[in-house]
Amino acid sequence: MQILEHDGSRLADIAALFTASVHRLAAGHYDAAQRAAWAPQPPDPAHWAARLRPATTLVADEDGVLLGFLAYEARGHIDMLFTSPLAPRRGVATGLYAEAERRLRALGVAELTTEASLVAEPFFARQGFAIVERQCVERGGQRFERALMRKRLADEAAD
Ligand SMILES: CC(C)(COP(=O)(O)OP(=O)(O)OC[C@H]1O[C@@H](n2cnc3c(N)ncnc32)[C@H](O)[C@@H]1OP(=O)(O)O)[C@@H](O)C(=O)NCCC(=O)NCCS
Repeated sequence: MQILEHDGSRLADIAALFTASVHRLAAGHYDAAQRAAWAPQPPDPAHWAARLRPATTLVADEDGVLLGFLAYEARGHIDMLFTSPLAPRRGVATGLYAEAERRLRALGVAELTTEASLVAEPFFARQGFAIVERQCVERGGQRFERALMRKRLADEAAD
């Protein structure tokens, strides 16, 4: 598996992976109506171009197959992290996250934040994030529980 910076050429694959990931991997925590609001089918490529524009997107690639993607902002915010339902628990998200953290440390970022889904909460906890607050947000007429999580990089360096 290779972690690469997205060059803009795989928008359709990213949109399809996001949609499949939500509908398959998030099914244990969010019901069908919530998943339909979160990841409408079919995905709209124009929406995805706009959604990824403010972020840097990393892709996990294996022989030309997209296994996952992560989008982050230089201020230290992890916007999105999604693994293919064909490759769960194989370290795809770990590889993507490690590269994002390495890059953000190199930029001098002191803390990382994310709004983690209930599915992703154990993953981010494993990476050293702690819950700042539990949130309930409305998207497309559905309510979603999630957690604002934070990892202080400066504290870790001082340990
Ligand atoms: C959350 C998600 C990104 C994890 O991706 P992944 O590639 O399967 O994660 P990894 O294989 O790197 O997991 C590393 C560790 O994180 C933890 N972890 C990952 N997924 C987990 C899960 N579903 N339940 C509990 N712990 C989990 C485990 O400690 C795991 O180590 P282990 O497999 O040795 O036990 C993936 O399940 C996903 O895309 N979910 C649906 C979409 C979503 O909610 N994305 C996040 C939006 S904020």
